[in-house]
Amino acid sequence: MKSSYGLRNRGTAETKPFLCSRVPLVIAALAVLLFCANANSWGQDAAAFFKQNCTSCHTIGGGRLTGPDLKDVTTRKDRAWFVQFLQSPKAIIDSGDPYAAKLQQEARGVVMPNIANLSPQQAQALLDMIAAESKLPRSQFAGMQISDRPLTAQDVAKGKLVFLGEQRLSGGGPACMSCHTMKGLTLLGGGRLGPDLTRVYERLLGRKGLAAWLSSPASPTMSPVFKDHAIQPDEILSLVALFEDSAKKGGQDDTTSLLNFFLLGVGGMVLGLISLDALWKTRLRGVRRSMVHKDDRGEG
Ligand code: HEC
Ligand code: HEC
Repeated sequence: MKSSYGLRNRGTAETKPFLCSRVPLVIAALAVLLFCANANSWGQDAAAFFKQNCTSCHTIGGGRLTGPDLKDVTTRKDRAWFVQFLQSPKAIIDSGDPYAAKLQQEARGVVMPNIANLSPQQAQALLDMIAAESKLPRSQFAGMQISDRPLTAQDVAKGKLVFLGEQRLSGGGPACMSCHTMKGLTLLGGGRLGPDLTRVYERLLGRKGLAAWLSSPASPTMSPVFKDHAIQPDEILSLVALFEDSAKKGGQDDTTSLLNFFLLGVGGMVLGLISLDALWKTRLRGVRRSMVHKDDRGEG
């Protein structure tokens, strides 16, 4: 670029006012610089972005979670394909692409969610980062180190306290119970915003998958709430123990939210509704208010 400019302008540089002849070039150079600086800084952020948006389903060299292990993924197909796939996984799968169909089958039908507003440059930066991490002896994304020691009744008991909010999360996040129910734990209480977690241990494929999920929840509701209030590894282990225990006990997810009330009979139901309403109005409002305020601050 420099040399072609030199060639083109040789001889005219002295006759034209210095700046005039160079203005377009200076602008172009600045634009390139700015663009590079931008791409670069996103390059560094690619790791942070990956940690927040991808590690709930992918490791780099740590085995498959919900999605495939991404070690050396960029050698499995050409770049252009991955850039397209990252920008819209569902569209590629729906298009009948055979490689994507195979991936989906291996993922037991799960479709990778669309990542909102991912530009081609960002997709490239992510793929560069994944390629670089794949070359390391141990990537920082080799997966969360969750202990594989046998889980005990004490772990389960601690998981219960954490779930119910009787032991506060050390990262400061809200108690699971404010949004979730679980068989045998939250007979009358428990929030309905999130799904019943009685059998989530199986849904998220056991200790490793569940632990990875909890360390960066891939949920549009939980992610903003827990982003700066990560659940700590020891708490994750206790929660995993609780979920494993509950899956083993074989209870079913309680999808009919009013079932408990009917079991109590109509009288109980009315009483229950009245007292719950009062209880949850005050409790949930507090939780929601602090969550909303946190969100406001995060965006501002
Ligand atoms: C909710 C789980 C989930 C999240 C979050 C997720 N993925 Fe995926 N990913 C999958 C699944 C499942 C597949 C396999 C294809 C399919 O079934 O959609 C996949 C496939 C891929 C592939 C192709 C793998 C191969 O073997 O060719 C790449 C690359 C990829 N994901 C990158 C990412 C990146 C980067 C992010 C974060 C921006 C991300 N994924 C977030 C679940 C997820
Ligand atoms: C602010 C409400 C809220 C809180 C607090 C919350 N969750 Fe969630 N959670 C949700 C919602 C809603 C979903 C469903 C996904 C979505 O729509 O975002 C979910 C999904 C999940 C899932 C995946 C369920 C599945 O079937 O795939 C797990 C596991 C989970 N939450 C565990 C927890 C644990 C453990 C805690 C406590 C540390 C917790 N959640 C606290 C709202 C919450």
